[in-house]
Order: sequence, then C-alpha cells, then structure tokens
Amino acid sequence: MTAIEQAILTWIHLISAAIWVGGSIFIGIVFSPLLKTMTSSVTERMQIMIRVGRRFNMIAVPSLIILMATGLYNSHMLLGRPELLIATSYGTFLLVKVILVAALAVTYAIHVRVIRKDVEEKIMSGQLPEPQIQKLRKKIIILGEATVVLSVAILFFAALLDAGV
Ligand code: HEM
Repeated sequence: MTAIEQAILTWIHLISAAIWVGGSIFIGIVFSPLLKTMTSSVTERMQIMIRVGRRFNMIAVPSLIILMATGLYNSHMLLGRPELLIATSYGTFLLVKVILVAALAVTYAIHVRVIRKDVEEKIMSGQLPEPQIQKLRKKIIILGEATVVLSVAILFFAALLDAGV
C-alpha cells in the first residue's frame, strides 16, 4: 500500500469514528437532557428518541461497519499472526481493541433490538402503558451508556496503537 492509500484508509477510519463516537455523545450529553426540558411525558420523549435513533442508525450502523472493515484491513497482517499479538505490546493492544469492538457491536445490537418492531409501533401509537415505557427506558439508558463507555475505551486503545507505546 502506498503512503497516500494508507492516509486515505486512516482518513475513512477517522471520519467513521467521528460520526460514531461524536453522534452517540451528542445524543447522550446534548440531546437527551434537552429533550427532558421539552416535555414531561415519558411516552412523548420516547417517541421522539425512537425517531432520532432511527435517523442516527442510518449513518451510525454504516460507520461502525466501515470502522470494522477499514480497521481489520489495516491490521490483517498482524491479526493473522497470533504469536505477534501476544509477543508485542502493539499486538496485545490491537487484540484488546478488537475484543472491545466485538463487545460494542453486541451491546449496540441489543440496544437497537430492545425496541422490537411491535413494541416500537405500540410506543409510536401511544398504546404502551407508561410503567412499561419506563422499564424499557431504563434498559436503553444503561445500554446506551455502555455503548459510549466502550467507544471511548476503544479510542484509548487506538491512541496507544498510534503512539506505539
Ligand atoms: C475491528 C475493529 C477495528 C480495528 C481492527 C481497528 C484497527 C485500527 C488500527 C490498526 C489503527 C492504526 C493504529 C496505528 O496508528 O498504528 C486504528 C486507528 C484508529 N482507530 Fe481503529 N480499529 C477498529 C475499530 C475502531 C473503532 C470502533 C473506533 C472508534 C470508536 C476506532 C477508532 C480509531 C482511531 C480514532 C484511530 C486513530 C487513527 C490513527 O492515528 O492511526 N477504531 N484502528
């Protein structure tokens, strides 16, 4: 791979990371607290959040897939040599990063699936009682927080790789 090809690959990896991490943090830190001040109805807040989530998923899911594809391509040589993954600190950090990414993908998949199609339709049409919505909301908040924490931890391992610690 030439230097410019390598730069383009890293650029795509970085844009996807910015969309994924920036978007999740924006929803958690800026949008969610603001939403609370807009309406006191939990049902209404959930309806808005579902619409925001659907829209965000349209760029977040492709970003995560691109992150995995470009990341794996970038490191396929090393990942194919298990002895180096353990013998070098770069390899070990890469291995931890890949494990965290797998955990992130699973957490996000559960986060999205907690609101199944039928449940989503009931929420959107106002048919789900508030106590049930509250329960769902708690689960979603925990999974959302786990997604952000894992993403930020992955960035730390990316920094370790970049610095060649
Ligand atoms: C299977 C998934 C992934 C693999 C295999 C992977 C692999 C890599 C590799 C090999 C590098 C270059 C490190 C170096 O400079 O030597 C890198 C950089 C980076 N990765 Fe990933 N990555 C993955 C997913 C992610 C995810 C999910 C994020 C964001 C949450 C992310 C964010 C970054 C960032 C910010 C850099 C720094 C770019 C640089 O300075 O080189 N990566 N990744």
